[in-house]
Amino acid sequence: MKTKLIAPSLLSADFGNLQRDIEMLNNSQADWFHIDVMDGRFVPNISFGFPVMKTVQQHAKKFVDVHLMIVEPDKYVDEFINHGADLISIHYEACTHLHRTIHHIQSRGVKAGVVLNPSTPVLMLEDIIADVDLVLLMSVNPGFGGQKFIENTYKKIAETKDLILSNNSTALIEIDGGVNLENASKLFEAGADVLVAGNAVFSAESPERTIELLKI
Ligand code: DX5
Ligand code: ZN
Repeated sequence: MKTKLIAPSLLSADFGNLQRDIEMLNNSQADWFHIDVMDGRFVPNISFGFPVMKTVQQHAKKFVDVHLMIVEPDKYVDEFINHGADLISIHYEACTHLHRTIHHIQSRGVKAGVVLNPSTPVLMLEDIIADVDLVLLMSVNPGFGGQKFIENTYKKIAETKDLILSNNSTALIEIDGGVNLENASKLFEAGADVLVAGNAVFSAESPERTIELLKI
């Protein structure tokens, strides 16, 4: 998979015009659709579920990256796969049998990622890094769009890169939260492969142009 990818988060889209926003992303330089699913239990907010996934499945023409911020994600991964997910990332903090769930997702022909909250150390990935397709490092506490980027993320990117190299893993590194035009190039330089951007894209005067600029 090529790197330096931008994954706009639909969390910041206009849900009254969801098809329009999806078409805008189809016609932009965005690489992935980032889908933030929140259950009001793992995180203190509720976003959306399968009806929105259905609309994404109908209209999105790019790779669909699903970020599950829910308890017991193993109960729902099959339904997200049936709704067109190309990658499902589950939180280390939410999944008791991470190895089993990661392998179950992959057995269905879908990529599997693991997510770490800002306070979870990278070393917790030591025994799963060889199995995952992606590591998603949260650079804000999950639950809301538009929050401030946590600077400690740079240190975690370096640690994740080391862990990937020392395990001959092919996992990509994705960063989620507070990504903007100021920090995007620094994050790619530090070793990120995929940047999620919600607020920076959808609150911009020109979302398409912002997506282009995030890649520079
Ligand atoms: C946070 C979500 C993010 C977030 C990104 O819980 O996982 O994907 O919405 O949004 P911005 O780019 O606005 O921080
Ligand atoms: Zn996300």
